[in-house]
Amino acid sequence: MKQKLIFTNLVGEAVDGLVAELGNPQIAVVADTNTAQFVLPLLVNDSKAVAGATVITVKSGDVNKNIDTLADLWKKLSAMEATRNTLVINLGGGVVSDMGGFAAATFKRGMRCINIPTTLLAAVDASVGGKTGINFNGLKNQIGAFSEPEAAIISTVFFNTLPQQEILSGYAEMLKHGLLENSEVLGKLLASSPVYPLLDPTRLLPLIEESVLVKSRIVENDITEVGIRKALNLGHTVGHAFESYSYERKSPIPHGYAVAWGLVVELVLSHMLLGFPSDVLHSFAGYVLANYGAHQITCDDYPALIADMRQDKKNLAPDQINFTLLENVGVPRININATPEQIGAALDIYRDLMHIA
Ligand SMILES: NC(=O)c1ccc[n+]([C@@H]2O[C@H](COP(=O)([O-])OP(=O)(O)OC[C@H]3O[C@@H](n4cnc5c(N)ncnc54)[C@H](O)[C@@H]3O)[C@@H](O)[C@H]2O)c1
Ligand SMILES: [Zn+2]
Repeated sequence: MKQKLIFTNLVGEAVDGLVAELGNPQIAVVADTNTAQFVLPLLVNDSKAVAGATVITVKSGDVNKNIDTLADLWKKLSAMEATRNTLVINLGGGVVSDMGGFAAATFKRGMRCINIPTTLLAAVDASVGGKTGINFNGLKNQIGAFSEPEAAIISTVFFNTLPQQEILSGYAEMLKHGLLENSEVLGKLLASSPVYPLLDPTRLLPLIEESVLVKSRIVENDITEVGIRKALNLGHTVGHAFESYSYERKSPIPHGYAVAWGLVVELVLSHMLLGFPSDVLHSFAGYVLANYGAHQITCDDYPALIADMRQDKKNLAPDQINFTLLENVGVPRININATPEQIGAALDIYRDLMHIA
């Protein structure tokens, strides 16, 4: 990965240092309506570069990560007479880094950008690894590019205004990284509470750093996702099905919550198909139940959930559903197929573990 990763709570200093290293270019800060209100004023105080930048504000939320907002962003870059040498600073969650990163990758065939994540999910996931893009034609992340930012400046200083649900959502991706790494990293995460303000932000930064390094090591070996990067899909085959189905039922659940419950189901499958240790499965499920509650499903929901899993991009044949599973903590196996019967059995066990009648 060419992307530099800077972990610091002195964000202003870090931005100004980077901007100087990059030759003090013209700067466009991309923010959304929330980060423009809650985060930008903090950074304007601390960074000369940000104080002197042109600010482009986009509407917040994944529904606005679309072609219209992107076109508006391109227009605003044109209006400020941005050149290939202009630096884009994405100040926001994953919506801003995905869309601002894609605008930077495409405007005048590519300009440089840096990410300053302001949500936990963006800090541990979206701001690292170079996937950029927008939703299109009703499909998530349908148009995009692999394009790495120059750097990500990762901190916890902006999380004070973040709703608790967003903290929990990002923490689920950290749990995934812990499962992919080793028992020590996982153990530290399971021994902490993600619920703000119980988790002290200064204690959170080292955990975030550890988590990001798990992702960056995996991405480094497979930037365009032809092999091991698929390990990062752990929890997401079932997680995406829970998420899509919740939208179909008009009671949407946040992505990270869907991943937390998806991880439980996929650890059950890992136990069934690859002998993943049952004591770890039980303590993980207990942690998820205590912090995220239970996602209520009945066996009547299984056909719809399995139909959603069949839509997963990873599947190579229609009758097989492809998973990333674990033989043990830190031992992922990609391209493991499970049958609908095996998935149904795993969902039964999930309901037991989550105390769902
Ligand atoms: N590129 C990748 O590798 C990757 C990985 C995971 C997710 N994603 C994408 O990231 C997006 C989700 O990211 P997200 O969870 O950060 O969502 P988000 O960017 O929509 O942020 C969540 C909400 O929090 C608000 N917000 C952000 N920072 C804030 C702050 N400090 N204080 C108060 N409010 C704040 C936002 O305005 C938004 O309303 C999705 O579009 C997803 O597809 C991309
Ligand atoms: Zn995810």
